[in-house]
Amino acid sequence: MPRTIIVSNRLPVKVLKDKEGELSYVPSEGGLATGLSSIYKSGNNLWVGWPGRYFTNKEKKKEAKEALEKQNMAPVFLSQEEIKLYYEGFSNETLWPTFHYFNQYALYKKSYWQAYEQVNQKFCDEILKVIEPGDKVWVHDYQLMLVPKMIRDIHPDVSIGFFLHIPFPSFEVFRLLPWRRQLLDGVLGADLVGFHTYDDMRHFLSAVSRVCYISNQHGQILKDRRSVATDSFPIGIDYDKYAQQAAHPETLSREVQYRTSLGNQKLILSIDRLDYSKGIPARLQIFDIFLEKYPEYIGKVSLLMVVVPSRDKVGKYKDLKEEVDLLVGRINGKYGTVNWTPIHYFYRSFPLEDLSAFYRMADVAMVTPMRDGMNLVCKEYLASKLDQKGVLILSEMAGASKELSDALIVNPNDKHQVVKAIYRALTMPEDEQVRHTAIMQKTLKKFNIHHWVDLFMSKLDEVAKKRNELATKVFDKKVEEKMVSKYTAAANRMLFLDYDGTLVPFHSDPMAVNPDEELLSIITRLSSNPKNRVVIISGRDRGTLEKWLGHLPVDFIGEHGVWLKDKDGDWNMAEGLDNRWKAEIKKILDIYVNKTPGSFIEVKDYSLVWHYRKVETGLGELRAREIISHLKYLSVNMNLQVLEGNKVVEIKNIEVNKGKAALKWLQKNKPDFILSLGDDWTDEDTFKALPDKAFTVKVGGIHSAAKYSVEDYKDVRQLLTALIES
Ligand code: UDP
Ligand code: G6P
Repeated sequence: MPRTIIVSNRLPVKVLKDKEGELSYVPSEGGLATGLSSIYKSGNNLWVGWPGRYFTNKEKKKEAKEALEKQNMAPVFLSQEEIKLYYEGFSNETLWPTFHYFNQYALYKKSYWQAYEQVNQKFCDEILKVIEPGDKVWVHDYQLMLVPKMIRDIHPDVSIGFFLHIPFPSFEVFRLLPWRRQLLDGVLGADLVGFHTYDDMRHFLSAVSRVCYISNQHGQILKDRRSVATDSFPIGIDYDKYAQQAAHPETLSREVQYRTSLGNQKLILSIDRLDYSKGIPARLQIFDIFLEKYPEYIGKVSLLMVVVPSRDKVGKYKDLKEEVDLLVGRINGKYGTVNWTPIHYFYRSFPLEDLSAFYRMADVAMVTPMRDGMNLVCKEYLASKLDQKGVLILSEMAGASKELSDALIVNPNDKHQVVKAIYRALTMPEDEQVRHTAIMQKTLKKFNIHHWVDLFMSKLDEVAKKRNELATKVFDKKVEEKMVSKYTAAANRMLFLDYDGTLVPFHSDPMAVNPDEELLSIITRLSSNPKNRVVIISGRDRGTLEKWLGHLPVDFIGEHGVWLKDKDGDWNMAEGLDNRWKAEIKKILDIYVNKTPGSFIEVKDYSLVWHYRKVETGLGELRAREIISHLKYLSVNMNLQVLEGNKVVEIKNIEVNKGKAALKWLQKNKPDFILSLGDDWTDEDTFKALPDKAFTVKVGGIHSAAKYSVEDYKDVRQLLTALIES
């Protein structure tokens, strides 16, 4: 049965060893592990990951491996050196700080990068050992960004998903990484790349566009003739598990026990891994300011602060631990009394029964990270509130804030705003608390972890299906043989060749791509064969076409069909065209040229083209959208068509298109072999207009009405040469 192979740095359980050397297995902390652990056992799935420690004793390693395998886990064992350089190093001293906007903490070390590459390869090798036909691979998080491409290189057809559980930073921050290109190429080996929020996704797309020079269409990226989809899938929690745990007798008895020792005071809850991204020192300072500003709460409210040890060998984490210890000590020393402790601080992890009791008891949960991919603690808190009484204070820097708008949303850097939010939370009437919690619970119930997995997996299946459909389009050797055999059998052949992007590459200066020697030779040889009729079908003006190719025995369809010429005839204009609209539209385009450095207008006889190839990335696209929306109604009234091409917006008469022009040629000549090559969406009209027997080939893309696709102008030249040599 096909399985999903889940791959993450950390397995959902970690192996502990006591003083006698006995091994035990406990759940891992962190959102990824807790989020996915309840679903991976369903079906016949397998989890590949690191068991959280290194082994020097071979026997113990074997014992751990066998125990984990029994639970459908395939451990990847890391050496002490690998843990230091790949896990603590590149993952948590380079990527983690950069992706959380703490780039001043980031270290850029070659040895870290080399270990990252090598350990990613190790994970890939482990996957290759277990993968079976039909399996899907789902790679998780920043520690394994190179794995999707590594698998793709070996198994081009396997379905690969990648999910990033932490924020994807803005391009201005991401660009700081010396290995930015390799990281993106690695991730783009996947079929589907998922993020928690739309902001993360658009930052990723922007990085792909600026670093790899690949644009996207509605989140679809075309990479190495494969389509990579991106989307936002906010992760949910196992809602029922937390709700049921909150009703469990064990949770209730722990609550009673803790309440007895704490007394009746109000409780503010804070739970995080020890991480600078979580804003723990700021939270403590805020609590200090709160007690100062509202002294009536001294003795009446306590902060229950759980800090789970994390990455404690990493320098910045060690420093943070000291800072937190100091702050807690200072505040407790400043306000504490014999009967009351302001902060109950625990530097340890707790089992679910305790966490659930804490969630139940807390009047307020303070979740105020400086930056967080999602944050599950706030969701677990809400799910545990069976009576719906309680208030969530949530940082707008957490992914969860996008869904939980009924929380008290705060900017953690604005300490006074958060202080006010605490006061508001502690004084909020119960009916208001219930109202907000109920709304958020409804969202969390629906968008639970199962829903998240289903959404991601069905999208992955959809992408895989499309990939299979598209694979049939690739112009491979078999198709070439078929085409060549039809070509040699035919006596009256017609070849429609688009120019820019098809016969020559794009250039920022449109006049710089005059035909080179190789191209001239190809067209000369094709057109001098009496059985062939070569038609250059282009958006270019007739003057340029004439100048560049007019000396050859070829036909021309210029300006998308405005100007027509038989090889032995003169230029003729399509009938009944009007170009009086040009003056008015040009005035509008002039406005955009004036405010967009690098853009210019090309004036053709019956169309206007606004070029933005030299405009700053992003700005050109923005202006193009503005122009299109500006001309929306005007163009309908004037019977015009506004076309978006490769870094151009073209405005022309609606009656003129390449497809209509091509049909005229077919009617006159009745060929028995037709080939059409084009890259732009103006060529789609040709592809659609031609009869079914035609070989239609899209250049540089796969989403097309054409039957086949090739990668670029070089493939085109090769294909034409194959015909010549047949
Ligand atoms: N958690 C835990 N033991 C603890 C405290 C917390 O297992 O003692 C869990 C908590 O229930 C939550 C996860 O750790 O599911 C933290 O996930 P979150 O997304 O909030 O933050 P992350 O650690 O992933 O940055
Ligand atoms: C975050 C990351 C996870 C990671 C977890 C715990 O949730 O997104 O990938 O597993 O923190 O961190 P650790 O370094 O202990 O695995």
